Amino acid sequence: MREEVILQQYNKQTRALSKEFVDAIPWKDVSKYTIDEKFIPVLVYMRDVEAFTDIYYKELLRTPTGKDPIIRKFMDRWQVEELQHAALLDRFLNEAGFPTSKQWYDEARAKIPASYSLQKFIQPFITNLVGKRFSAVHMTWGAIQELSTLQGYKRLWETANHPVLTHILKGIAAEESIHIFFYRNIAKVKLEESDFSQRIARYLVEKFWTPVGQGTKPEEDTNYVIKTLFEGEDGLAAVDKNVNHSLALLPGFENTTKVTDRIAEAISAGQAAQAA
Ligand SMILES: [Fe+2]
Ligand SMILES: [Fe+2]
Repeated sequence: MREEVILQQYNKQTRALSKEFVDAIPWKDVSKYTIDEKFIPVLVYMRDVEAFTDIYYKELLRTPTGKDPIIRKFMDRWQVEELQHAALLDRFLNEAGFPTSKQWYDEARAKIPASYSLQKFIQPFITNLVGKRFSAVHMTWGAIQELSTLQGYKRLWETANHPVLTHILKGIAAEESIHIFFYRNIAKVKLEESDFSQRIARYLVEKFWTPVGQGTKPEEDTNYVIKTLFEGEDGLAAVDKNVNHSLALLPGFENTTKVTDRIAEAISAGQAAQAA
């Protein structure tokens, strides 16, 4: 599929979180059901990371992909959708009896660890080093993040078992699926361009990939979220089947075990922190 066709197909997909969907969310029913408190930090993490899309968006505009007209069109819509996901999760927390600050976004941003600015420093270096091959890396990376985000939401609705949350998360997940469609297909095109692109992308993913949100959030928080959602055999199996396997189908990523291995590590680290 050519890139223009991928963009056209992406644009044809209407938003799952249409005005009708959002207006019909039964907010008044949220407090009728309980939610295990262990999921509250998970919801806060997801809300913040969705909202930090704002930061990634601005950073990425300065890279070669920000100048790619097709990817740029995708990113403009993607950003709006992710920010709405954050807003819905925040509203849910409040309706569920876990009030958040009105300034939650500024407060979450202020807590971004200082080490993240180091990554900001490294990022343009990687970008310039890789030059126009960066698009293959960015799209592959984005596909992994969106695939894992979708699995995270799915595990959350399956384990939290709160009907209104399930309804909202299924709407959000439908949009994450459309993001996956775009990232994966463009990644495939960009990776197919050359062996060099495949080697660079694989090298950077194997060496630097970290789970969604880690960096802007401290690693302990990431480990807690991953442990809470993916602990147990079927959790890791879901990551392996739906994220790692999908990555392994991309050109140059044959037989990778990166995502499954890294998630298994995060689960163990989360369990060790809880036992301490
Ligand atoms: Fe999202
Ligand atoms: Fe997404």
